[in-house]
Amino acid sequence: MTDLSETILHYHQRTKHQLNAYAKGPESLDWDDQPNPFRRFTGCETIPLPEPGADLACRFADLDIPEKMDSQPLTLESLGLLLELSFGLSAWKQFGPDRWALRCNPSSGNLHPTEAYLLCADDQVLPPGVYHYVSHDHHLQRRSRFVPDDANTGLYIALSSIHWREAWKYGERAFRYCQHDIGHALAALSYAAACLGWSIELCGEVADAGIASWLGLERDQDFVAGERESPDLFCRLRIGKTASADVDAAALSRSAQSAEWYGKAERLSGRHFYRWPIIDEVAEHAQKPATVRQRRQFPAVRLPQPSHNELASRLIRQRRSAQHFNGKAEALPLADFQRMLSALLPSAKPPYTAWNWRPEVHLFFFVHRVEGLEPGLYLLPRDPQALPALQAALSADFSWREMPAPFSFYQLTAGNVRQAAKTLSCHQPIASDSAFSLGMLARFAENIETEAWRYRRLFWECGLIGQILYLEAEAAGVRGTGIGCFFDDAVHGVLGLKDNNWQSLYHFTVGEPLDDGRLQSLPAYAHLKG
Ligand SMILES: Cc1cc2nc3c(=O)[nH]c(=O)nc-3n(C[C@H](O)[C@H](O)[C@H](O)COP(=O)(O)O)c2cc1C
Repeated sequence: MTDLSETILHYHQRTKHQLNAYAKGPESLDWDDQPNPFRRFTGCETIPLPEPGADLACRFADLDIPEKMDSQPLTLESLGLLLELSFGLSAWKQFGPDRWALRCNPSSGNLHPTEAYLLCADDQVLPPGVYHYVSHDHHLQRRSRFVPDDANTGLYIALSSIHWREAWKYGERAFRYCQHDIGHALAALSYAAACLGWSIELCGEVADAGIASWLGLERDQDFVAGERESPDLFCRLRIGKTASADVDAAALSRSAQSAEWYGKAERLSGRHFYRWPIIDEVAEHAQKPATVRQRRQFPAVRLPQPSHNELASRLIRQRRSAQHFNGKAEALPLADFQRMLSALLPSAKPPYTAWNWRPEVHLFFFVHRVEGLEPGLYLLPRDPQALPALQAALSADFSWREMPAPFSFYQLTAGNVRQAAKTLSCHQPIASDSAFSLGMLARFAENIETEAWRYRRLFWECGLIGQILYLEAEAAGVRGTGIGCFFDDAVHGVLGLKDNNWQSLYHFTVGEPLDDGRLQSLPAYAHLKG
């Protein structure tokens, strides 16, 4: 085992919630000094994007067959829509004097550590340069300008994380949540691109150091110490049927080096009362080097129609986390459940069109109320080849009863699992009052021992799965919620896992939501009008 992977495994072990102790976090929160969820740079040009809120004609199920979608022309309007449907505001919520924004992409604790950048290598739609997206104002801030390099063309979207935003509330475990959020953001971007007949190509081969220099993230002078951004993902935006192409890292580096840079990041919080050095340590050890270029073509699969086949743009904007579920709701129709399961299996549709690796995460379900399905614990392998390893690792007491379905789906145990689901997810009733909740089981030690940065990739895959569930829940007329808080090893105990070859990295729950009547909902962008 390398020093890198050892540090990662140590971080993971240390940031587990235990039934008798939560992972280390702040003892108190100063809400008046919460890090600003909106990063802005002062001293750079602002490029307003056309008015947000436009709808597109495509329906959610149209995204199942992306090659049939008509491609929208690339304009500032369509680009603005892409950014809005991925990272833009979807509503404001108000409770008494408190008001907070929600976005199309979810985030643990609504803290939003993810930042999005546009890198225009040519002048198709904007002059060459790096642009930062400010979701609150729905505009771009121009961070750099450079002379285009003939070796490089096209548009890229890159994601980074401000770990401090999340660590402020969640302490040492926050690094995990930042990675989940990146997975959600990548999937949100992939769905949004598909609405426009475009696609996102994840250029997973590039090194973090490259992304940082191309975006100007390594410019010490532009950032407040402790509020830096860590590079995460670099994606090519493919308009219509544009072919996949290699990223010319050397040309992007030449552009970055010759660029003029503008702006300084505004301070996010006045004080950094608690510090979490282990986050800097794990971030450093999980840095991604340049790797071999990989692209993966998943099989085309015909999915059953969702029962609420809304306009995709509306469905994306209406996505919310349920804070309570109706524990006495009717069972979720089997057809809706089967559609969700089919959508979770990798196929030639978003967000898998933006994913390059074979599935390493499999799902175990706590089924509470699904039509025609006995309550109990179930397993959905997302890759049939993983089945023997899962069977060998999980409890010998499981029955592995194959369920009638067009894919492999197994009952492990029958019985009421509501109390278990709730207790394991940090006693949260959202895990037991829903139709079902689930955990995401990742092939763990082997991946991290092979390449330490895959620690992040496993969480990205979980976030991507979570985003599928969020949108599929809306398309089934119900609602989902991500669950980052769970008692890691207690979960492993229930599954009969004895070592860290497999680890549960994220939970999720889906059911009939109960609305909180005390909360007022306000439109996303009324503040930009007039
Ligand atoms: C990675 C992740 C972990 C989350 N964990 C929890 C959780 O443990 N409990 C919970 O009630 N909500 C959880 N949420 C839901 C967030 O609180 C929610 O996304 C956020 O408040 C924004 O609201 P929205 O999803 O309605 O936009 C989680 C969300 C994400 C993305």
